[in-house]
Formats: sequence, C-alpha cells, structure tokens
Amino acid sequence: MQTTNVITLAIESSCDDTSCAVLINNRVLSNVVTNQEIHNLYGGVVPELASRAHQQNIVPAVDAALKKANMSLHDVTYVAYTNGPGLMGSLLVGASFAKGLALALNKPLVEVNHMQGHYMAHFIATESSTSIPPFPFLCLTVSGGHTQILLIKNHFEVIILGETLDDAAGEAFDKVAKTLQLPYPGGPLVDKYAQQGNPKAHIFAKPKVDGHNFSFSGFKTSVLNYINKQKQTDADFVTNNMADICASAQHTIISMLMKNVLACANEYNIKHIALAGGVAANSQLRKEITALQQHGYTTYIPAFEYCTDNAAMIGITAYYKYLNNDLGTQQACPQPRMAL
Ligand code: KG4
Ligand code: ZN
Repeated sequence: MQTTNVITLAIESSCDDTSCAVLINNRVLSNVVTNQEIHNLYGGVVPELASRAHQQNIVPAVDAALKKANMSLHDVTYVAYTNGPGLMGSLLVGASFAKGLALALNKPLVEVNHMQGHYMAHFIATESSTSIPPFPFLCLTVSGGHTQILLIKNHFEVIILGETLDDAAGEAFDKVAKTLQLPYPGGPLVDKYAQQGNPKAHIFAKPKVDGHNFSFSGFKTSVLNYINKQKQTDADFVTNNMADICASAQHTIISMLMKNVLACANEYNIKHIALAGGVAANSQLRKEITALQQHGYTTYIPAFEYCTDNAAMIGITAYYKYLNNDLGTQQACPQPRMAL
C-alpha cells in the first residue's frame, strides 16, 4: 500500500452542496464547492432537485478540483466519498460516481461518514501546528442537519455525549428566519441582524431535556407563537424589531449550546474544545467559544471553508481510514441514517 505522497480524490454530495477535493497526505490542494441556489426559491432543500443538481455539478466539480490541484485522474491514489448520513438521492449521485471512477481507474475506494468528516476537519494541515486539537477533546458539531457534543478519544473512537432530539441548531436558525420571512438559508441573516440587536429584548423558551441533549422544536414554536401574537396588535412588529428578535433568538440557541458544552467539559474534565459544522460560521457562537480561553480552555475552530459542507473534510477522514487499511467496496450502499 502506498503511504507516502498519498493523493486523495474526495467527493461530498450528502445534501445540497456538490463538492470535490484533492489532498496530498493531510494537506488540501483544492476544495471546490458548488452551491445549489435552486433551493432558495422553495425555502428549504428539495431532495429531488438536489440530486438532479448533483448530477449536473459533479463532473465540473471534479474537473475543477483536479485542475486547481494540478493533478490528473491517474495521479489519484484512491477515491473517497460520503456514504451517509444524508439525502438518499444526493448520496447516490456521489456514491455511484465515486464507484464508477474507482472501477475505471482500478483504484481503491474509501467510504466516509459525513459526521465524522465534520469533526475530522480539525486534522487538515494548516500553517499553524497549534490548530490541531490534542486527544481527548470535545467537539460541538452544529449544522443544518445535526447537533452533537462529541468526546473525541482518537481519530475514530468517539462518544456522543449529547445530541438533538428533534431539530438541529442550524435548522432552528433557519426556521426562525423563515418565521421572519427571511430567505433560505436564514442562519447567516439572523447572525447579521443580531449584530445590531439586544439579545435580552425578547424571551423565548429553552426546553429542558435529559442529560446533555438538546431540543429546539419547542423554542422554534415559542418564536412563532410570540411573533404571531405581536403581529395581532402591530402588523409591522417584525420589520420594526428585526435586530432584537434575531439577537434574542440567537442568544437563546447559543446559550443552550454553551450550557451543555460546558457541562460536558466539567463532567469529563476536558480542557480542549472544538467547533465544527456550518453553524460554526455564526459570529456570536465563535466569540463565545473563543472566550472560553479566558477560563483555562483551549479552543479550535477550523477555517470557514472546512466548517460548512465540503469535500476536504471527507478527504482528511478518508486519508486516516486509508492509512488504517479501512477500504470500501463496490457493493456498499449509501445509508441516509448512518450513525456516527
Ligand atoms: O454544515 P452545513 O453547511 O450543512 C449541513 O450539513 O447541514 O450547515 C448549514 C447550516 C444552515 O442551517 C445555515 O443556516 C447554518 O448552517 N449557518 C449559520 C450561519 N452560517 C451558516 N447559522 C447561524 N449563523 C451563521 N452565520
Ligand atoms: Zn454537514
């Protein structure tokens, strides 16, 4: 097995972004992400449209990633792809493409769990050696589909300490935005408006659940009910209070996340705390995680392009799997509900 100058070609197509990355060992040479804007028209991801867009985007994304990396298909050591969790139709496009490519090139395949990819993004080589967390560390993975607090013991030994019982944190942001009639995906807009608002202006429900788990669906309903009630007496309530509503909703979501992360850090006596997933782009969450450094914690946030869905995180996970000789097969079937 080749262990030096390993060239990974990685494909990610689990939801609505088609991405291809090329890595040499643990270093990213290219990471091309094609966003699917078609979903903005519908206020959420439409699975059938996502798979069709993946079919259109996948060849140009692979071509662009190879070109940017200055590599050809024949330089590739093996092909990696996401085989769950995600939307079945979307996963099938990436899986079929990766399998076909591996077969045609007579190269090995490596299957990657998307959620593993999110926390493994921390192991992508960067200029600074201090950006890679030492084991064990905690990782708060917050995306449009998932919310998990993970205890990472080594690259592949992970314990889920807490997770959402219903909506994901990103979904909660997006649903608040939808209530405020902001376009999808609304998380970044809530973040933007919140910067001008008062986080204590409105009080929303913070549902309590067992252990270190989360529930965001009660919170989402409390925002909806509150807005509808206010609109009965003031039709312009949302327009006149946009910044305060966004700041208060954001504060509620983030305080639930921070409370559980700190409880886990205390309980397991962990001093290294990492952030992953698309919601890691949120400016207030980044601020609050970074501020933990004043309390004796060391914190880690990957570059923005490795937080949102991307193939580089699939590539780095595959690289460690490849070194462990953990190869995939042509028979593997994507698993939309694949567990971590
Ligand atoms: O990881 P990701 O790109 O895709 C999934 O795997 O879901 O995460 C996308 C989610 C969306 O819900 C989006 O609204 C949210 O991340 N998001 C944000 C911000 N940027 C992206 N949420 C809050 N503030 C942001 N700045
Ligand atoms: Zn994701």
